[in-house]
Amino acid sequence: MEKKHISILIVDDEEDIRDVLEIALKDVGYRVFLAENGEKAFGIFKLKQPDIVITDIKMPVMDGIELLRQIKRENSETEVLMITGHGDMDLTIRSLKNEATDFITKPVNVDILEIAIEKAVEKIIARQKLLEYTQKLELLILEKSKLADHLSSLGVMIGSISHNIKGLLTNLDGGLYLVRSGLKKADNNTMEEGLGLLEQAVDRIKKMIMDVLLYSKERTLKKDVIGTKTFVEKIGGIIELKLKGTRIAFKCKAPGSSDTFFADEAFLMAALINFLDNAIDACMADTQKKDHEIGLEILRETDLFVICIHDNGCGMDSTTKEKIFNLFFSSKGTKGTGFGLYISNSIIKQHGGSIHVNSIKGKGTDFKIILPMPKADL
Ligand SMILES: Nc1ncnc2c1ncn2[C@@H]1O[C@H](COP(=O)(O)OP(=O)(O)OP(=O)(O)O)[C@@H](O)[C@H]1O
Ligand SMILES: [Mg+2]
Repeated sequence: MEKKHISILIVDDEEDIRDVLEIALKDVGYRVFLAENGEKAFGIFKLKQPDIVITDIKMPVMDGIELLRQIKRENSETEVLMITGHGDMDLTIRSLKNEATDFITKPVNVDILEIAIEKAVEKIIARQKLLEYTQKLELLILEKSKLADHLSSLGVMIGSISHNIKGLLTNLDGGLYLVRSGLKKADNNTMEEGLGLLEQAVDRIKKMIMDVLLYSKERTLKKDVIGTKTFVEKIGGIIELKLKGTRIAFKCKAPGSSDTFFADEAFLMAALINFLDNAIDACMADTQKKDHEIGLEILRETDLFVICIHDNGCGMDSTTKEKIFNLFFSSKGTKGTGFGLYISNSIIKQHGGSIHVNSIKGKGTDFKIILPMPKADL
């Protein structure tokens, strides 16, 4: 550490001593501040935060011991050198109790003072190094625990995927069997049934692989200004396709065509589709109501972009609601991996947003996603 980066506050009521020490220390290269009593010194200390304070003990207004105490209370790492007179044993002991770094006896010998300062500087450097090492160590420990977390979730992931694939194999086998026997008997209905099972299995495998890719990739957002209306229309197109052949209605509502927002389009779309996929599943799972409906509404509030997703499907009880964002939590057996909302949640969080859930078992579910959207971004 260069001397010009070390600042020293000299506190003494005798002007001559201040002057001599100032010249000597500036000459060696230190940055120097001066004060004639403890009170003024403490004011300068708070303002300039010097690395080292050299203070006389006996001074009017506020003495060196009181100054030492106040400095240590403000910043315990400041090195404070005390200038003591001969026979000030009692004061020396009191300074020691207050963690003074060193003592220089009067009359001050500049060479001895310089050595004491160098020792203090060594302590400062050692402390800085220790801090750097500790920070590096903390970082390493954090990385290690992240790695361990990642490894253990990879383990769970492989388990969960294998379990799902096992379930899907039954669908694939069943589908193949039906297609084969349909072919043999030239029975179109059986073939259609078989193909339906195969399509379902292929869809689930596709989604599972996409989820794994989203989960395992280090994700950095590529944010851009996006037209709200086109964004909603794209999602609408995907959902309408999924709803073909069902009795579920889909309603979209978005601000006018001039409205824009700032986000990573692909990721945000993947996140919202997960919510909507769940809404479809929830409507399919509900045997109570005849007519089902899913809604996607985008509201614009000052500096906020609010996305509401509603369904009147099976809803959730409170224990399920608490777990929905957990990785691998799924109530759908082999039909779900429990990836969906975990990924959606992390995408929304990456956008600085929050998710609020309202759900009543048997009635339906409302998700409200709030994204901060300062006008300056648009
Ligand atoms: N709209 C909803 N209505 C009822 N339950 C829901 C709804 N959304 C989520 N859930 C519950 O949250 C669980 C977790 O959802 P998530 O999307 O993470 O996983 P999944 O749908 O089971 O599987 P995946 O999306 O990975 O195929 C679901 O299994 C379901 O129990
Ligand atoms: Mg899902």
